[in-house]
Amino acid sequence: MSDGTGVDTERETGGTEAIDPPASFVEQANVSDPAVREAFAENWPDCWERAADLLDWETPYDTVLDDSNEPFYEWFTGGRLNAAYNCVDRHVEGGGKNRAAIRWVGKRDETRTYTYQDLHREVNEFAAALRDLGVGEDDVVTLYMPMIPELPVAMLACARIGAPHSVVFAGFAADALATRMERADSEYLVTCDGYYRRGTAFNLKSKADNALLDVNHDVRETVVVDRLGDELGHHLPSHQRDYSDLLDAHAGERVDPVPRDAEDMLFLMYTSGTTGEPKGVKHTIGGYLAQAAWTSHAVLDLEPEDTHWCSADIGWITGHSYVVYGPLALGATTTMYEGTPDYPDRDRVWEIVDTNAVDVFYTAPTAIRAFMKWGKEYPERHDLSSLRLLGTVGEPINPRAWKWYHEHVGGGECPIVDTWWQTETGGMMISTLPGVDPMKPGSAGPPLPGVDVDVVDAAGDSVDAGEAGYLTVEKPWPGMLRTLYRNDERFVEECWQRTDDGGYRYAAGDGATVDGDGYVTVLGRIDDVVNVSGRRLGTMEIESAIVEVDGVAEAAVVGADDGPDTAVFAYVSTESGHDATAALRERIGDHVAAAIGPFARPDRVVFAPDLPKTRSGKIMRRLLTAIADGDDLGDTSALRNPEVVGEIEAAVRNE
Ligand code: PRX
Repeated sequence: MSDGTGVDTERETGGTEAIDPPASFVEQANVSDPAVREAFAENWPDCWERAADLLDWETPYDTVLDDSNEPFYEWFTGGRLNAAYNCVDRHVEGGGKNRAAIRWVGKRDETRTYTYQDLHREVNEFAAALRDLGVGEDDVVTLYMPMIPELPVAMLACARIGAPHSVVFAGFAADALATRMERADSEYLVTCDGYYRRGTAFNLKSKADNALLDVNHDVRETVVVDRLGDELGHHLPSHQRDYSDLLDAHAGERVDPVPRDAEDMLFLMYTSGTTGEPKGVKHTIGGYLAQAAWTSHAVLDLEPEDTHWCSADIGWITGHSYVVYGPLALGATTTMYEGTPDYPDRDRVWEIVDTNAVDVFYTAPTAIRAFMKWGKEYPERHDLSSLRLLGTVGEPINPRAWKWYHEHVGGGECPIVDTWWQTETGGMMISTLPGVDPMKPGSAGPPLPGVDVDVVDAAGDSVDAGEAGYLTVEKPWPGMLRTLYRNDERFVEECWQRTDDGGYRYAAGDGATVDGDGYVTVLGRIDDVVNVSGRRLGTMEIESAIVEVDGVAEAAVVGADDGPDTAVFAYVSTESGHDATAALRERIGDHVAAAIGPFARPDRVVFAPDLPKTRSGKIMRRLLTAIADGDDLGDTSALRNPEVVGEIEAAVRNE
């Protein structure tokens, strides 16, 4: 069923049952004051100083929030700091040098541990190398790397010298990498020869080389990490640099962390939007790092002695904030895993938790549903008693999966935080505070202290409790995106709405309900963005790839319910003279995988004689979603070609 927001409200959504956090957790929690939300609200925006206080500032800021040029808000202005100093040096100086910063798990029996001292050494050496290669302040360095420790090292080396990084997920194809390098005018690339998946070596370098051929500007330097040794034959052309040679050449060198303005760019992160063009989300140093650190402290409850494992890939925002910046800013140990959860067996994740005595585990609902499907015998094989807190992010979690996670992973004793946030928000926005709030399985919870969200109707008025509407953020927050890179206009247009009082509210693009206790249940995207297995895909991006295939006339892509998961449906009409064949279907899937990445391959390609269009020629996507979901089609009177609907329905059922 769908309501006015186009959101499916019949999914298994938030329950009303409230579960109190265990007293043993509350006693030790970083934040356990029940009045914390009121205290923040009364003192807004200065309440956010509590987050900034978790950082070391080279020069103190003079203004918490500068809202003189809405919606280009600025935070902690006048302040200067360095993100690498905050994530590395200060822990070395503060007595933590021998604590593990990164525990990395690779292939079977392959592990590496970086103490804070080790991390300090390598970040310095690589920072010296980057500088020597010509990387200056504000030069965007693209990092196209798998889950190996050299990726956070490279991020922190960039941060150290004031060069913003742009990490491109290693699953992206050459085209996607080239586009991202071009949009950012990035003249430096750090990549890797490849990585291991399920015991097999995968080539990354050939994709990087193909991308480099396509980039229209001069790429000055390419650095390559040797991960595979001789496995795929590692031939580095003379104009490319070997990462370990560079470290050797700069062995023992130190580079002073460059003090940067709070509002200088820390990184760019490309994400899918509602057009075919990826959005370059710009995050700045002070506000982003403050929010990443504060939420790691208040929500993930991290302490320096904790081992944290966020299973997200660093190529996505979750990995930036909760594998790298948040945990390291707090001086904790962060875990990185290169492989997949079911190789060599379906207990791999629990084995890693057990061996590393992981305290806090943070993953996506899709992964939890896979664990649930595989069965409780896998977690039961291991001692998971080190776990103190569990988290989820990326999609709504259905109460059944929540309860399974609670019981079979958390032993009924770990609170679960269901954290809602986005690439654009930089850090968590809605979540229970595990030392304060009761949990309601399926509902993310109230907004975090200092965060002001609402659920509104099309006119911008708050909806009643239990009614679906649009999720908005009513006040700025420190970790917010500052703009879309070199596209202020799109930033204002897509992210913000005017309010009646002449101000701005942030439009999250999600549908949601809120209950009488202020708990928000997020229902899913309401725009042309789909979240598949925690990965964000723009339907337009996939459509643009499909129409490049010879024989395709037109394509429309929608996300459809697949149980609690989302499936990508591509409706395709062919050019005359081209038959809708299995071979064409295969070519479409292959081309999407080649243009964007294998994770974007549509689950279903449905051939249609024509796509349903309104009289003004717009494809009626709502209808295509309803067909994919097997829902009532509602009013189709606005269609110019209603006769195609029956044919499309038949194609979906029969193919
Ligand atoms: O639809 C929401 C969903 O993920 C979207 C953001 O995707 P991305 O920018 O890729 O960042 C993912 C990780 C932060 C949101 O607009 N989403 C994220 N967290 C939740 C969620 N949906 C429901 N519940 C959540 N906890």
